[in-house]
Amino acid sequence: MSAAPHVPVLLEEVIAALDPQPGDVVIDATFGAGGYTRALLDRGATVHAFDRDPDAIAAGQRWAETQESPPRLVLHPHRFSEMLDVMTSVGLARVDGVVMDIGVSSMQLDQAHRGFAFSADGPLDMRMSQDGASAADFLNTADEKAIADVLYTYGEERQSRRVARAIVAARPLETTGELARIVRRALGHKPHDKKDPATRTFQAVRIHVNGELDELSAGLSAAESLLREGGRLAVVSFHSLEDRIVKRFLREASSTPSASRHVPLAAQDDPVFSQVSKAIKPGEAELERNPRARSSVLRHATRTATPAREAA
Ligand SMILES: C[S@@+](CC[C@H](N)C(=O)[O-])C[C@H]1O[C@@H](n2cnc3c(N)ncnc32)[C@H](O)[C@@H]1O
Repeated sequence: MSAAPHVPVLLEEVIAALDPQPGDVVIDATFGAGGYTRALLDRGATVHAFDRDPDAIAAGQRWAETQESPPRLVLHPHRFSEMLDVMTSVGLARVDGVVMDIGVSSMQLDQAHRGFAFSADGPLDMRMSQDGASAADFLNTADEKAIADVLYTYGEERQSRRVARAIVAARPLETTGELARIVRRALGHKPHDKKDPATRTFQAVRIHVNGELDELSAGLSAAESLLREGGRLAVVSFHSLEDRIVKRFLREASSTPSASRHVPLAAQDDPVFSQVSKAIKPGEAELERNPRARSSVLRHATRTATPAREAA
């Protein structure tokens, strides 16, 4: 039942990017097991930590209670898309840093009852926040085309229609094991395949159930509004769909729209971020310690003085 604690990914690089100073206020948008939070507290920062998973917040709360008073760790049981409203409501609408570590934690993945993993059998759940529609609700009620679209868009599953057909034919589905078997049967699983063919379907359904890509876009935009001039943004993502969103956001945020007769002068604002890093990946030593870091990518940037753009 109990899961190994989450090992923070690219920790040194993330902390170097944020460069927290004593007294700084930093948002850890994805608290998880608090790996980044702990390092930020050690550097003397105050941390406002968000997580949509009540289990992560409950574990954090027990830890926060052992902290000094007034507390330098404040936990918010909210989605990071709500960061701007929550921070404004506590009177901290300007912060020195924001870090986002997108995706699921080891605790979520390893606990079969959360229904994220195909390696262990559990209920077909996958909800980080433990409320709303579950993976089973979606897969047992959506029409075949809607399922195929999700698998194609969020899992880059080329045989999405075949898999969706097999899912619909096997309904109702109740467990992660059933879903994995259906996908493997539909795609033809060879025992020596390097990657389980169910991987793409599980990723897609998880992203859909949690609205992960919309969350990421909204979180980046909230970070733009919250960061003071000189404040740092660091984002760790785990697959190309997420990294593409982060990369495009930083490219647009750090460029000056070229003068065009179609763009009114007032819209030709200066960049809102500068010093955008390249993609930073874990080195061999980290991968040896923590194979789950394999697909992680860090990108970071520094906020300029230009007012935040209107959220899309
Ligand atoms: C990869 S883990 C973070 C691990 C953390 N950096 C650590 O060192 O322990 C991601 C965490 O973010 C949370 N999460 C994912 N999307 C979220 C969202 N939109 N809003 C708030 N929390 C989110 C998940 O519930 C999970 O606990």
